[in-house]
Amino acid sequence: MLPIRSEGLFVTLEGGEGAGKSTQLKALANRAQALGIETVTSREPGGTPLGERLRNVLLSSNDGEVDLRAELLVFAASRAQHLSELVRPALARGALVICDRFSDSTIAYQQYGRGLDPDVVAAAIELATDGLKPDLTILLDLESHVSRERTILPNDYLERAGTEFHERVRAGFVSLAASDPDRWLVINGALAPDAVTELAWEQISAYLDQVTEDPPD
Ligand code: TYD
Repeated sequence: MLPIRSEGLFVTLEGGEGAGKSTQLKALANRAQALGIETVTSREPGGTPLGERLRNVLLSSNDGEVDLRAELLVFAASRAQHLSELVRPALARGALVICDRFSDSTIAYQQYGRGLDPDVVAAAIELATDGLKPDLTILLDLESHVSRERTILPNDYLERAGTEFHERVRAGFVSLAASDPDRWLVINGALAPDAVTELAWEQISAYLDQVTEDPPD
């Protein structure tokens, strides 16, 4: 398959539960692969064997109250492993990496949702990522009550958190997107899945075209 450039393209999908991220992840990867672009899809927490084990530990936790910093650090640990084992090597090969959730989820959930200190959250993100940011982040924005209705079986402890928590998370995503419009594309998650894919793909292909027209030295 054709590498797209020497330093890949890193796209992340963000949003609350039931916004359709996993459907879009597959649809967008299919589009890219049909063009012969090496495409790597992944998710956080998870994406590597260690990350998936951390995910299970965290999301299926029945260990009583999880300490907020412990929670933050497990998401960060999964991310550090994910970057070194999967994401950075794929980007170095010139691949398109599409990831379901990344650091912005940590800001939305742990900072806006849980109320952790922004400096503490920023420090954990920096430790895990060494400053790596996505080239493009697509927010599938959905009103909290629609999101709740679409989540048929809340199966992890975060999905079971109350409506106010999820409203704070959504407000967090919206404010992150507003603060960096060059990196974010906000799409109404209530649109039909095909329409969402179309809008997201339009933006990804604009990045891909830009890369092809302006190859690195
Ligand atoms: P997942 O099943 O992937 O949720 P969804 O299907 O909604 O994407 O579970 C991931 C959960 O972890 C989700 O509730 C969001 C939460 N999360 C954080 O709180 N912080 C993070 O940094 C990440 C990556 C996820």
